[in-house]
Amino acid sequence: MRVESGDLVLAVFNVGGVFYVMNDACTHGPGSLSEGYIEDDIVECNFHNGQFNIRTGEVVSPPCMIAQTVYPAIVEGGTVMIDVG
Ligand code: FES
Repeated sequence: MRVESGDLVLAVFNVGGVFYVMNDACTHGPGSLSEGYIEDDIVECNFHNGQFNIRTGEVVSPPCMIAQTVYPAIVEGGTVMIDVG
């Protein structure tokens, strides 16, 4: 799902019960990763179908060349919190 907080626009994923948070905007172009396609721990961009590893942000498939920023996330009281420091 897509979440906006301050200047951040984030994509939040639940992979096997573990939450991962990354920047929503694809590093390749105008794609939105929260609107992408998910299979296991891979998200495929909805624009040019580049792929990222949800856990690490690493590029899995081009045309993306730059890794996605993934923020360390914890869940407290049912709320997903991230460290943007
Ligand atoms: S905008 Fe995401 S792969 Fe091009």
